[in-house]
Amino acid sequence: MVILLALKNNKTYLENLQLEATNSIKTISSEEDIENWRIDYIGRKGKISNFFQSFKDLKPEEKNELGSLANKLKNTLEKLYKEKQKALKDNKSNIQTEFFDFTLPGTPISTGSIHPTNQMMQEICTAFNKLGFNIFEGPEIESESYAFDKLNIPTNHPARDIWDTIYVNDVENIKSLVLRPHTSPMQIRIMENNEPPIRVVIPGKCYRYEATDNTHEWHFHQIEGLVIDKNINFLNMKATLFEFARMIFGDDTKARFRCDFFPFVEPGAEMSINFKQNEWLELMGAGMVHPKVLMNVGLDPEIYSGFAFGLGIERAAMIKYGIDNIRDFYANDYQFLKQFK
Ligand code: DAH
Repeated sequence: MVILLALKNNKTYLENLQLEATNSIKTISSEEDIENWRIDYIGRKGKISNFFQSFKDLKPEEKNELGSLANKLKNTLEKLYKEKQKALKDNKSNIQTEFFDFTLPGTPISTGSIHPTNQMMQEICTAFNKLGFNIFEGPEIESESYAFDKLNIPTNHPARDIWDTIYVNDVENIKSLVLRPHTSPMQIRIMENNEPPIRVVIPGKCYRYEATDNTHEWHFHQIEGLVIDKNINFLNMKATLFEFARMIFGDDTKARFRCDFFPFVEPGAEMSINFKQNEWLELMGAGMVHPKVLMNVGLDPEIYSGFAFGLGIERAAMIKYGIDNIRDFYANDYQFLKQFK
């Protein structure tokens, strides 16, 4: 009877000990306290060790039962101890020990931005849009007939030399394809598919097989313009292009038109502008659409007339921002690009 009571008391003691130990470990927040806790409960002279000592006079079966319960508790407490110790250590290494000035400004997050070519393209399109032009796009792989023949540049015509063209291999029965060397073929496509009055600009990428230098790239962007209606004359062209130049380069910009040759216009001109510095910079080619081109798309040159123009987008940006090397646009140099954010 006495012994039975002892067994029961011992079990209760173990249960209380477990409760006490698990509660007290929760409140511990220093490495010193966790060490004391360990000594107190599972140390060599701790409460569990003492408990083993206390029941050594009991019967063997009872000793076994209590022993295994006490061992189980010891294992539980050891596990708790290790977990707590690790948690305290991890926490400590997370705490900033060096001085940190929270009032310092943060590191800027670097964001992307629109490429200067595209910025210029958007600016030019917006200007023409304000002047009443619609915006179209066209294919970069073009047929030779649109790129040259229909623009009054027949095969073997020496003028083809101006456009150092990259030819595309024939694909089955699709022959005579080129990477468009200019955006002018879109004049034909637009006129074939739309009735006058036509007032459009067509921005896009062009390709030429040529050596690169400060003013030449093998790929670049152009914007083509086309106006077709009854009674369109050279003065309409000059006024439109002059107004456009002032919108992009400022109100003080002066424009100069001089004779130039392009097979798809007659008369043809190059337009230069005088902006800021005391020098004239060639901005674009332009002219009155050649009667042969109008006939090629089934328009009667006795009824309709119009003008066309084409300018290099990188060239416009170079003039506007004083960039002296076209290759900067595609070198992907962050120092260059970040100036246009
Ligand atoms: N396509 C010409 C070029 O690549 C530029 C050009 C000149 C376009 C005169 C025109 C034009 O529409 O009238 O050099």
